[in-house]
Amino acid sequence: MDVVSTVAELKARVADARKAGLSVGLVPTMGALHVGHLSLVKRACAENDFVVVSVFVNPTQFNNPEDLRTYPRTLDADVDLLSANTSAAVVFAPAPQEVYPQPDTRVFSLGPVAEVMEGAHRPGHFNGVCQIVSKLFAYVSPDKAYFGEKDFQQIAVIRQMVKICDFKLDIISCPIVREADGLAVSSRNTLLTPEHRKAAPRIHAVLEESKALVGRMTPAELIKWTTDKINQDPLLCVEYYEIVDALTLQPIGDWSESDAPHGCITVQAGNVRLIDNISLK
Ligand code: PAJ
Repeated sequence: MDVVSTVAELKARVADARKAGLSVGLVPTMGALHVGHLSLVKRACAENDFVVVSVFVNPTQFNNPEDLRTYPRTLDADVDLLSANTSAAVVFAPAPQEVYPQPDTRVFSLGPVAEVMEGAHRPGHFNGVCQIVSKLFAYVSPDKAYFGEKDFQQIAVIRQMVKICDFKLDIISCPIVREADGLAVSSRNTLLTPEHRKAAPRIHAVLEESKALVGRMTPAELIKWTTDKINQDPLLCVEYYEIVDALTLQPIGDWSESDAPHGCITVQAGNVRLIDNISLK
């Protein structure tokens, strides 16, 4: 596995692979890799001949400078983990200056899918995600790119970006990998205090429990029930819980409005913001 830090080297490696007739897969990440990321890379390796993993903490998608500063950066460990567990061909780990030699002034007009939930709570976040992901798509021109359902809205936003930018590739969505106690695996879990770590599995447990109430309560009632039940633990504070249509990401007022109702939640656990989601179908 090669680690490259320049766009020119990356493009050269991909061009060689294409000349050899290989299919190309891309897994974008911000590093601090864990089993959730590895599941994406393993799937990409099973479905493509030549896999590129990008490791880049993208400054333009952080709306909180402190979050950007403290985001874990562990490139050596990431490279070891990838080479020990996957057959990825290239790790692309550029410096910010390489990707943004000048400020990226592009504004993506993504429509309603990007305006709710994370879009409303983290202004500019999805625009930054589209800036970096569109650059990666342009550098690599992959046949397939892999994203995790842990960031459920991010997948919908990227599909919309692919449509409006006319990228020719398949977006592959991969299931959430969880800890044994149900907590969605995340780079941010390592920042939890032991007490908050102990409390955090309640999020998924309550969401699971809520499935039995679909149809017996209205979406609004179920939102309140779920929020109250999670907030009963004083260490957890729900920032938002929304029940939306899985395709449009728009909130539903009645179960009849969606064939695929989906619950999306963000919870503050001490200083750490945890996100999760669940199919309520
Ligand atoms: P990052 O948070 O590093 O996540 C990289 C990819 O791994 C995302 O597609 C994310 O959904 C997926 N992932 C993270 N935890 C997961 C889990 N427990 N189970 C399954 N998949 C999981 O998301 C980003 O980086 C950035 O926004 C990025 C797309 C790289 C653009 O900068």
